[in-house]
Amino acid sequence: MDFSKIKEALSILPNLASEPIVSSLFIPELLRLLGFSSLEIVPEFATGNGGNTVDYAVRKNGQDDIFIETKSNPYLLLEIKGRNINLSQNSARYKATVSQLKHYLLAPKCRSAQWGIITNANHIQLFRKHGKVVHPESPCLEITPDNIDKIVSKIKQKIENPQKALTVAVYNNKGGVGKTTTTVNLAATLALLGKRTLIIDFDPNQQDLTNSLGLKPKEDSLYIWLVNKNSPISNGLIKQCKFSSKSGVLWQFDIISSDEKLQNLEEENLRQMISPVRLRQALEPFKLQYDYILIDSPPNWRFFSQSAVCAADVVLIPTKHNSIFSLENAVTVIKNFVPEIQKQRKDGGPVALPIFFNGESITEAQKINAERAINEILEKSRKDKVNPMDLTPYFYPRSSPAKIDRHIFGIPSYAHIAGAAFNRVPAAYKHRTACEHYMALAKEYFLQ
Ligand SMILES: Nc1ncnc2c1ncn2[C@@H]1O[C@H](COP(=O)(O)OP(=O)(O)OP(=O)(O)O)[C@@H](O)[C@H]1O
Ligand SMILES: [Mg+2]
Repeated sequence: MDFSKIKEALSILPNLASEPIVSSLFIPELLRLLGFSSLEIVPEFATGNGGNTVDYAVRKNGQDDIFIETKSNPYLLLEIKGRNINLSQNSARYKATVSQLKHYLLAPKCRSAQWGIITNANHIQLFRKHGKVVHPESPCLEITPDNIDKIVSKIKQKIENPQKALTVAVYNNKGGVGKTTTTVNLAATLALLGKRTLIIDFDPNQQDLTNSLGLKPKEDSLYIWLVNKNSPISNGLIKQCKFSSKSGVLWQFDIISSDEKLQNLEEENLRQMISPVRLRQALEPFKLQYDYILIDSPPNWRFFSQSAVCAADVVLIPTKHNSIFSLENAVTVIKNFVPEIQKQRKDGGPVALPIFFNGESITEAQKINAERAINEILEKSRKDKVNPMDLTPYFYPRSSPAKIDRHIFGIPSYAHIAGAAFNRVPAAYKHRTACEHYMALAKEYFLQ
């Protein structure tokens, strides 16, 4: 690729270049290098969300399908700002621009869009869309004439080789909040919807996920897969969980069950044998095959949960409205653990999804109590001298800067959800109401 023109554009762009100047000097070169011709670029693309337009939509042309003519099925959206707007990570304008891009990516005429870029020619960040989830695929990078070639090559490589799977770690540092129950029922529901789903029991000390499906923990397969980087994937690693409905329809999802060999290893020994990034690397081939990979994690912040969060695109955090500890532990995950892994990974991921309430029915009085506790948590975090952070999007995701909406998604307490584990069948397959609850969870978080 010839980067000379984009380097030249960057060197002549004024420090405070306005959006039209960035658009005319920098963007055409960027899009050309990403592999798009002028017939594949639509400026001011109507997203179908009111009169909102995104600055650019692009897509490769098919044989008789010219994007600038059909203006349908965009692949990548770009929201452009001028250099006079600060897009460095965590600035107010950065947050507003990311939120703008997310809205466009989820707009009716952009359902096909899988990627989004924000840039002002000083900073650039790539986002990926999977169903309803929009998550970073790069950090917010500072652009210079010297690094633009590397940045563009990386983005091109990603958008030309999209992965199929969204990898989700189900994790809260607090125990007993419904991590395992959520993993198995969400997998069952996604399978019901025709999604290819793999679940991983990464809590070998309890092995609840494996047991809840009536399976026996395997000797060696998960252990060998993690320890021996070069050995081929053994036939026994993945097991199929098949369930048939009364009407004879067959549903199936896959599981990597836990491994006795991982059970009693000391933390130090474990870390000597297996790096916490190993699971992430080992999952690479599966990310091309499955729609969803869900990882059940143990409570605590040690090898297995760190590996699960490190392997994930997003972290789903169950909490209980009546357990302040589950809420405070969720905050620790969002403010400390996820950023700790982000620093190690250096690719912008993973990110935390908003919390949800699991497994306790909630009365009006309890709701008020929970809101009071959450308001205190939000206030404390905003005023935190060492690590101030606005946690509103993680607790009240429907809020906007103009209006606070205290809706929090919940799966109520439902005896059949608890009981199904005794029968070794996901509750979502046994009971309609349970299925409806997990369908609602899938829609709230994952499905567009
Ligand atoms: N929505 C629900 N309704 C009723 N019971 C539930 C619900 N969700 C979870 N439970 C029950 O709560 C208990 C704890 O759930 P689960 O084992 O999934 O939590 P966990 O977070 O995985 O626990 P651990 O931290 O020990 O791994 C289980 O007995 C489970 O059956
Ligand atoms: Mg569990």
